[in-house]
Amino acid sequence: MELVHERQVPAMTVSALFLFLVITGSYGYTHLFFSNQPSINQFYWMMDRSAGLVAYELLAFSVVLGLTTASSMWDRLRLRRVVTQLHQFSALLTACFVGLHLWGLHLDQMISFPWPKLLIPLASDYRPFPTALGVLTLYGLIALIASSMLRERVGVKAWRTIHFAYVPMFILVTFHGMLSGTDSTQPWAIWFYAVPFFLFIVLMYVRVGKYKATLNGKSRPKLHRTVVPNSVRIDRIQSEDVQTNKDREAARDTAFP
Ligand code: HEM
Repeated sequence: MELVHERQVPAMTVSALFLFLVITGSYGYTHLFFSNQPSINQFYWMMDRSAGLVAYELLAFSVVLGLTTASSMWDRLRLRRVVTQLHQFSALLTACFVGLHLWGLHLDQMISFPWPKLLIPLASDYRPFPTALGVLTLYGLIALIASSMLRERVGVKAWRTIHFAYVPMFILVTFHGMLSGTDSTQPWAIWFYAVPFFLFIVLMYVRVGKYKATLNGKSRPKLHRTVVPNSVRIDRIQSEDVQTNKDREAARDTAFP
């Protein structure tokens, strides 16, 4: 059994390559063209903020798509495969931009963020609690992506349990961005958080409602189109025919004794 499904290898390669090129490229660019540390700091500050914001929107996109995957809408539109792949790829890209977010924070020497402060919750001196929410989200993201890549090994039940981490993760990272971010007070940034968070709440409400309805048997669970082999179908039709004939005869007999 291969470690990661072959279908996921191209997406992973593209993401890893993208991350590697941006990290090495930015490092080369700043150390070749910037003459002093303050301007290098400025560059990496811009990188950590923009990468953080892009990571948040990509995560929101992946979560919203994920919440709609149960809907039959994508079957009707014949888009289920595309939506599933977009859901997976946007989660991978989120990881890339979180990598750039941390790289920017690490190289911006205005506020020191050695790796331990980036990876241990509450270790940072800068806004410790909001930053810790980011660290927890990071581990949630790693668990989600790793368990999805290794789904056949971890098993569907464990995978599904781990996958529910997306709920606290998205709530935590929304507060992380709003409480620790420089741009959070900007009018555009408020929409940046409000729109995806509103969508998340609405789709969660619909999803939980559907789940409760299924539990209470109020809505018949969707009948999956089970493929019935021809031989069985013919037997069934014949037996139904016989029965109907019998009924018809009985009815006729009663109707016309
Ligand atoms: C899934 C993971 C993460 C996402 C999606 C994320 C997203 C964000 C966003 C959207 C901002 C606001 C940026 C702004 O307003 O300009 C932000 C700021 C920040 N994040 Fe994260 N973050 C994540 C993980 C982390 C981690 C692991 C750390 C580690 C300590 C961290 C530390 C920070 C800091 C210090 C800021 C303030 C930066 C500034 O405004 O200058 N984040 N993050």
